[in-house]
Amino acid sequence: MDVLSLFCGCGGLDKGFLEAGYNIIWANDFDKYAVQTYRENFGDHVVLGDINHITLESLPDFDVLIGGFPCQPFSMMGEEKGFMDARGTLFFRIVEIIKYKIEQNNKPRVVVLENVRRLSTHDKGRTFKTILRILEMDLGYKVFAKVLNSADYGIPHTRNRTYIVCFANDDAQFSFPEKQELYLSLQDLLEHNVDDKYFLSDKILPTILSDGTGGYKSKSEIDLKIARPLCATMAKMHRACQDNYVTQNSRVRRLTPRECARLQGFRDDFVIPVSDSQAYKQFGNAVTVNVSQAVAEQIKKILLDLGEWK
Ligand SMILES: C[S@@+](CC[C@H](N)C(=O)[O-])C[C@H]1O[C@@H](n2cnc3c(N)ncnc32)[C@H](O)[C@@H]1O
Repeated sequence: MDVLSLFCGCGGLDKGFLEAGYNIIWANDFDKYAVQTYRENFGDHVVLGDINHITLESLPDFDVLIGGFPCQPFSMMGEEKGFMDARGTLFFRIVEIIKYKIEQNNKPRVVVLENVRRLSTHDKGRTFKTILRILEMDLGYKVFAKVLNSADYGIPHTRNRTYIVCFANDDAQFSFPEKQELYLSLQDLLEHNVDDKYFLSDKILPTILSDGTGGYKSKSEIDLKIARPLCATMAKMHRACQDNYVTQNSRVRRLTPRECARLQGFRDDFVIPVSDSQAYKQFGNAVTVNVSQAVAEQIKKILLDLGEWK
């Protein structure tokens, strides 16, 4: 099954599809550091550039489109501009690509989109309704959507994300993957012998450990068994009520990039060729590999049943 991957980042969504036996033939992102990580781990099929400036004619034919489209316009932290924000319109770029392929008689069999949990409630549900209507009515897909938590797929990381799975074949009877028991805790994924730079100084410690204030009042808690959601701005070091801190050798420290990779389901053979701050951003942005793989395998079962798997 040939896959086109949009907004690939460092490749969390892609890795899950690869593990499930799909073939990624083309991927794109406009962040040069994300593309660097992607290229080193997956190969030269990744193209650096703004998807709005890549011509439709230059895209190869494919069976499956995957894309965790940028979520800032829809997330709690963003300003809730939704489709008014230019980044919100990236959904419409996905639609243009699919429409073009339909006109070329190469309608993608499956489309998989991922976004923040809040996508479904944004603007009183109107944004999500619009997205579903376009996928169903304008593009003719049978659409299934659900919020999945990474902690339900073997990874000790609370990460709720909306997954949208669309089938061109109306006979598709898709159900999202069953939840799995969680055997690991965040502590199981910690590195030993961690560089001193990850430990908090006595000076910064009280600020980091203080409870949230003002608009973001929340209890500071460290050494959680299941990590809080990793976020793209982790490099800035948020307070402990929003971020993950652990105690090791009686000292408090932040997570290392490798630990963030593990919390997104990347195995340790995944190369991290970029700076810590770029790595935090990429793993904070990524789709958890285990969730992606579980969804990809479930889709594969349906395609096998329909006789469409190749
Ligand atoms: C949420 S992240 C995707 C993470 C990825 N799916 C993964 O699993 O690792 C969104 C990505 O979209 C990229 N992006 C945003 N706007 C873009 C555009 N106009 N063209 C290409 N890439 C874009 C960002 O650089 C970012 O890496």
